[in-house]
Amino acid sequence: MTEQRGNWSSNAGFILAATGSAIGLGNLWKFPFITWNNNGGAFVLVYLVCIVAVGLPIMMAELLIGRKTQKSAVGALKEAVGPLWGLVGGWGVLCGFILLSYYTVIAGWSLFYFSKTIGWSFSGFPAGLDSGALFGEQVSNAGLQLGLSLGFSCATISIVYFGVQRGIERIARVSLPILFVILLLLLFSALGMSGSGEALAFIFRPDFAKLEPSSILEALGHSFFTLSLGMGAMITYGSYIDRNHSIVKASAVIVLLDTVIALVATVIMFSVIFSVPGMEDQVGSSTVGMLFISLPELFYSEVPFGNILGPLFYVLVAVAALTSTISLLEVVASYIIDEHGVERHKATLMCGGAVFVFTILAALSFSDVPILSTMHIFGDGDNAKIGWFSTADHFVSNWMLPTGGFAITVAAGWFMTREATEGELVDHTAPAWFKYGVWRFFIRFVAPIAVGSIIIAVIFFGVDFS
Ligand code: PHE
Repeated sequence: MTEQRGNWSSNAGFILAATGSAIGLGNLWKFPFITWNNNGGAFVLVYLVCIVAVGLPIMMAELLIGRKTQKSAVGALKEAVGPLWGLVGGWGVLCGFILLSYYTVIAGWSLFYFSKTIGWSFSGFPAGLDSGALFGEQVSNAGLQLGLSLGFSCATISIVYFGVQRGIERIARVSLPILFVILLLLLFSALGMSGSGEALAFIFRPDFAKLEPSSILEALGHSFFTLSLGMGAMITYGSYIDRNHSIVKASAVIVLLDTVIALVATVIMFSVIFSVPGMEDQVGSSTVGMLFISLPELFYSEVPFGNILGPLFYVLVAVAALTSTISLLEVVASYIIDEHGVERHKATLMCGGAVFVFTILAALSFSDVPILSTMHIFGDGDNAKIGWFSTADHFVSNWMLPTGGFAITVAAGWFMTREATEGELVDHTAPAWFKYGVWRFFIRFVAPIAVGSIIIAVIFFGVDFS
């Protein structure tokens, strides 16, 4: 007997779960960092254009493919487009697998800093502590890294284990409100700091002279990562939506919330950084620098109520990461459930266990394990990707997400019939502002050209999104 397929209990539950997938380390870790490196203002504006012109149409495309077929990535693409397209779904499942393997490791760092900040809140920030050295010690401590990522993997597995409604949706309903409240508290505190004016100007006052051509591609590449597009996560979440809800409205809400949260996180971090004279020169040398090296000590020297907000900030990072890791595991597990008929509990444990083997590789990439910490496939010189962790990140961000996204766009725009896509997007639930013809134009022309240019830039010009 086949079990009844999972579905969301309500539209709000679905929107929270999908927003939870979108909001993650991309918003709190990557976006502030790339905004910093690309000189703010003009880059942020370009990013917003990419989100609306490319991210939003592809979000609708993925959700509609999922809902139409009621199948996860592989089955959905096979049914909606054709048997060979199952390979694109498989590419997405593989991408989810690899992404989850190292994403879990970064998520684990938030647990470390949560426990550290709790300690500092009670006993004071140790005078003279070298934050950079502390970070270096924790990432290179193999036992600690394995423990942290094992803890995070178990949390992810135990949620996906309980299924769509009782696992994923239930956690999203609790986590997202917590995340919003913590961000709001941090925002109030940050806006009161002396650097907030400078931070707002840096983020929102565009200066196009500071915009490099590669920034446009970076903004575009990031819009995939941050919206969880290009690897079937939204196809899978879309497959649990019922017919009475509007995909158009849901997409707009998810995209809007993800964008607002990324901007708020950036305002918070930059307000803190600009409040400390000379701090600008110290951040920005590495992606992890801002989140795990500069910020922890600033909570204790600069931020009002930092004793409380410091630990809360790392709770925020962990919660945001968790609602993303569950969507990644769901992509992999739902493939095994839908395509190979494996029962959910067993499928979740199998997939979670298999991914964890690769998480071990990622967790040990910063200790001195040979090969894992030294392998070198991509990049040269300063840009060399050394070790399994960086190699996997590079492969996913530069190759897997853009190629997967390109294929999905082409599938929805050129290989599915007009009736098939129109039937999902235009019905009694569609909002009045939505014009199907506009969506079709963007998904057929704008999105493929934009995403195609990312792939060309990666292949021919060595642009790097990782
Ligand atoms: N969107 C997540 C983030 O911003 C990452 C992610 C990508 C999650 C793809 C699921 C699928 O951190």
